[in-house]
Amino acid sequence: MQLLFGMRPLDRFLTLGIESSCDDTSVAVLEGPRTILSWNISSQTERHAAFGGVVPEYASRMHLEAILPLTREALAEAGVSEPAKELSLIAVTRGPGLMGSLLVGVMTAKAFAQAWNVPIVGVNHLEGHIFANVVDHEELKFPFLCMVVSGGHTEIVLARASGDYQMLGATQDDAAGEAFDKVAKVLGLPYPGGPVIDRLAKQGNATAFHFPAVLPNIEGLNFSFSGLKTAAINQINHLRQKGDVPVEDFCASFQAAVVRNLITRLEQAVEQTGVRNVAISGGVAANSAFRDAVASHHGWNAFLPSKMFCTDNAVMVAAAGYAAFMRGERSDISMGPDPALDFGEDEVI
Ligand code: KG4
Ligand code: ZN
Repeated sequence: MQLLFGMRPLDRFLTLGIESSCDDTSVAVLEGPRTILSWNISSQTERHAAFGGVVPEYASRMHLEAILPLTREALAEAGVSEPAKELSLIAVTRGPGLMGSLLVGVMTAKAFAQAWNVPIVGVNHLEGHIFANVVDHEELKFPFLCMVVSGGHTEIVLARASGDYQMLGATQDDAAGEAFDKVAKVLGLPYPGGPVIDRLAKQGNATAFHFPAVLPNIEGLNFSFSGLKTAAINQINHLRQKGDVPVEDFCASFQAAVVRNLITRLEQAVEQTGVRNVAISGGVAANSAFRDAVASHHGWNAFLPSKMFCTDNAVMVAAAGYAAFMRGERSDISMGPDPALDFGEDEVI
């Protein structure tokens, strides 16, 4: 006899995932914990590039235009013709993120949940980033450390078990991706600057410029990137007074300084927790120098999500939602977006 959850068969558990926390609209259909039936993304990066950064009001309008066509497409590609009968769960990013952007995803997901009578789970975006690794690596088991590094986050999380997370350290000012973007802007490079610096750095000398070590002045496993960013901008201005900035060398040296900070904190986190499984996630986890440094390090077992799952996507949200549902979590239909949604216990070890 087939096991039933409501009217839906448990042997084919389909989760519809929706992500709209910043400037990417993404929808996915996941079967079980990690089988991707479909996923798509509508990136607004080029539209915001003209403004040198994400314009929140513009972002929410673009989410609104994209979300229904993307959902239709994702369901069709997954072969879901009757969502009310075939979907087991809807998972949506609830926060943190931009209010207007989150609102579009959460309200759309709630409308689907009500219309199709499907349970809904609100997902913390950070937990989503952690689950990008769970989707990509079946062999990755709890506990593990996950460093989430993006344009809005630089955090080290100890993932003890599904739903049991401890925040070990976070940035006190700029996120690593933000530092990449701001330094790139001063260099006259297009937005977002991280991937451009990554590309130019490949032709540069990483020891050409020196940057001050900032971490010794920062408590625990926390980070700071504003000092590094200011030092970089001062050097650029100084070099410009004397002539041209050797852009490739500068990018390689600045990138190496950022990566050194990230790796130092990972080494300390491994030493302090004794946990040797290390995962990374977020846009900066697509950085080649950072990936190489994490992958080749002998102090831990490295887990890197494929580059397409480093940046924001609905697959990771569906996977985190599935895990939350399996541990008994359900969201109420009155759930709203929460731009400052908390995550894990704060603890500086
Ligand atoms: O995760 P994400 O798509 O969005 C946020 O939640 O912020 O990350 C975007 C950030 C941007 O700051 C971008 O410059 C950075 O990730 N990024 C990179 C690379 N690819 C994206 N930074 C360094 N190297 C890269 N290859
Ligand atoms: Zn993100």
